[in-house]
Amino acid sequence: MKTIFVLNGPNLNLLGKREPGIYGDKTLDDIAADCRRAAASLGVEVDFRQSNHEGVLVDWIQEAGEKAQGVVLNAGAYTHTSIAIHDAIRAVTPTPVVEVHLSNIHAREPFRHVSKVAPHALGMICGFGPIGYELALQALAARI
Ligand code: DQA
Repeated sequence: MKTIFVLNGPNLNLLGKREPGIYGDKTLDDIAADCRRAAASLGVEVDFRQSNHEGVLVDWIQEAGEKAQGVVLNAGAYTHTSIAIHDAIRAVTPTPVVEVHLSNIHAREPFRHVSKVAPHALGMICGFGPIGYELALQALAARI
């Protein structure tokens, strides 16, 4: 079965209690369960992970290049800063990466308007809350 890595970056482990006005009430475990349900109906498998550490996310993107057919990536704040994550995405080409954000990063502070992920992503989904993860899985399942 085809495998999609769903990778989550810093502070996303706090979803549910972190700024619920921006990020909503669902926990990351709730989102993982939604992803597994969506994956089952799309006929793919998800490997869902979270880390607060940039290098761990780089390791996982590299691992996805070996073991997965696609990646859903919410890199959190590293989206806006990480050349290492940008380079890792380039390095695993042609493994497709879909960038996801719960919030609409373009409607927030100017420093969030820049993404180091987007230039090498298949596409980007933001502003739809947790449903964005399911949309990303659908997009990847249609592509791989
Ligand atoms: C986020 C948006 C980022 O700007 C922020 O740093 C996050 C979460 C989102 O899902 O909306 O940690 O990636």
